[in-house]
Amino acid sequence: MEGEVFYPSQDAIANSYVRDWEALAESARKNLQGFWAERASELFWFKKWDKVLDDSNKPFYRWFDGGKVNIAYNCVDVHLQTFRKNKLALIWEAEDGKSERTFSYYALNREVCRMANIIKAMGIEKGDRVTIYMGRIPEIVFAMLACAKIGAIHSVIFGGFSVDALHERISDSESKLIITCDGSMQNGKLVELKRIVDESLRHCPTVENVIVVKRTGHEIPMEGGRDHWFHDLCALPIANGKCSTEVMDAEDPLFILYTSGSTGKPKAILHTHGGYMVGTYATLKYVFDVNDEDRFWCTADPGWITGHSYLVYGPFLNGATVFMFEGGPSYPYPNRWWQLIERFGITIFYTAPTAIRALMRFGEAWPNKHDLSSLRLLGSVGEPINPEAWKWFHHVIGKDRCPIMDTWWQTETGAFMITPTPVVPLKPGSGTRPFFGQEAEIVDEEGNPVPDGQEGFLLLKNPWPSMMRTIYKDPDRYIETYWKKYPGKYMTGDSARRDKDGYYWIIGRVDDVIKVSGHRLGTAEVESALITHPAVAESAAIGLPHEVKGQAIYCIVQLKPGFAPGEDLGEELRQHVAHHLGPIARPEEVSFIDKLPKTRSGKIMRRVLKARAQGLPEGDLSTLEE
Ligand code: PRX
Repeated sequence: MEGEVFYPSQDAIANSYVRDWEALAESARKNLQGFWAERASELFWFKKWDKVLDDSNKPFYRWFDGGKVNIAYNCVDVHLQTFRKNKLALIWEAEDGKSERTFSYYALNREVCRMANIIKAMGIEKGDRVTIYMGRIPEIVFAMLACAKIGAIHSVIFGGFSVDALHERISDSESKLIITCDGSMQNGKLVELKRIVDESLRHCPTVENVIVVKRTGHEIPMEGGRDHWFHDLCALPIANGKCSTEVMDAEDPLFILYTSGSTGKPKAILHTHGGYMVGTYATLKYVFDVNDEDRFWCTADPGWITGHSYLVYGPFLNGATVFMFEGGPSYPYPNRWWQLIERFGITIFYTAPTAIRALMRFGEAWPNKHDLSSLRLLGSVGEPINPEAWKWFHHVIGKDRCPIMDTWWQTETGAFMITPTPVVPLKPGSGTRPFFGQEAEIVDEEGNPVPDGQEGFLLLKNPWPSMMRTIYKDPDRYIETYWKKYPGKYMTGDSARRDKDGYYWIIGRVDDVIKVSGHRLGTAEVESALITHPAVAESAAIGLPHEVKGQAIYCIVQLKPGFAPGEDLGEELRQHVAHHLGPIARPEEVSFIDKLPKTRSGKIMRRVLKARAQGLPEGDLSTLEE
């Protein structure tokens, strides 16, 4: 094999579900539907499907059609019939370390039923949308599973988003109910989640009720008739007792999750009960090799797809013990995560390159203070991992023993698409090869495959169970965005190259999506936040390379007449974006320009701005307006 290769240990191979990668890949290649039907059979169905894959109305693929199922039942109820009833399902620790909560599968069921009873009592029925906006506390997990149990569609919004982002997503989903908490803790500071909800609800007529979980205990306004403390609701008789599970069609919606695209509004990606369940279950099982002895920690927030698929659904489907931490990697000290790994005996640790890079900077002494010998597998997701960070993670954290699963996937794919398994030889920075049943292709603008070693657009060739089904309320945009340019193939929006060994190397987004610390943001969203400031005539947001964050947001602003550029105004505009869109979107820098470069048809030439900012050649300027 070419380049630097890390081969799996005999131990990793002996313990793995899939010892012979080639054989399983070959069988899935020959019989895609058979492969997925077998995986689906490992889960519980109220009624088996009639057809594994219905592709008669492409690209609106249907999986396990005719099947009756509920993902929450598979996450919780099925385990109550087994020894797992008393097994730990969830271990949670507060950011300040002062509180620890644990839930067996038995207790998880009680919590989910209670939350589900309360949601139902709020008048929520199958198919209704519920917005969840919380910090990383156990109740966010209960809320998601409770919605799934009763057939409501959850829309989780990351707690790092703010007023406008929240407002837009609540309005678009027409949610009747919001589940939130009074506040959350971030690096020792209070984030006023409930107040942000209040502000964003000023013009959201669909919302009837707000359930508020008490987390921080600080004073917040409660609106009579609309806002209810969760603990008060729990004390009511309606909260008690079992809650029956809604029997869902396999293709019934499970959740929508807003994600940023090339243009305009964020898209509500829709996933379903059956296919998403089979996809997250099987990928987690084979890639992270989860078994009953494991303690699995995915550091992602439930507000992103990684949290949905691999903090909540995938692990519980596999009956795993999940560890969830409220805080971030370096508060109060840069050993916080390593301390937790030691204290809770974490065996599988799945995180993002940005966190690894940030922690690397503090040096080896911090992790070396801790016994990390419980670890057996590591994982990375969200953006390309640079080989230097990969090697540090492998050597300093994994002690050269733990393979790193560099998983490439997207909100849209629901589950891993290009990923190793523990038996696959690894190359730092490559996600290796497509998962069983998937094939990828790298093509040029016209759709012709490019030779190995050359960069091109990454496409996926085969349908898969956990694929998005549509963009909620906008099926045309679904076709347009993903299926139109290269008919019959899924367009990922990423560029990549393949090496001689068939390994894929992701380069990055080819559209106007920026990955800031692994968080997916759209330039359009940042620009629409800026335009609401009275001084801004027009603006362009671009992503530039950043040592720790991967990419950072830079904004170039054209001011209205009467406003003068200056440091103070720049700072004000950064704050403005943070307040409206969210602190995660706060631009690194705002600079000013007399006139933004545009094409003759009026489109801002971000490519030119990007090149200028990096001191690179500006390329073809023939379309630039006079
Ligand atoms: O550019 C790719 C990058 O993240 C994008 C998807 O973002 P999102 O929908 O937020 O999902 C992130 C978590 C699955 C992709 O188009 N990306 C994700 N994982 C990797 C990656 N880039 C390189 N390597 C990865 N492992």
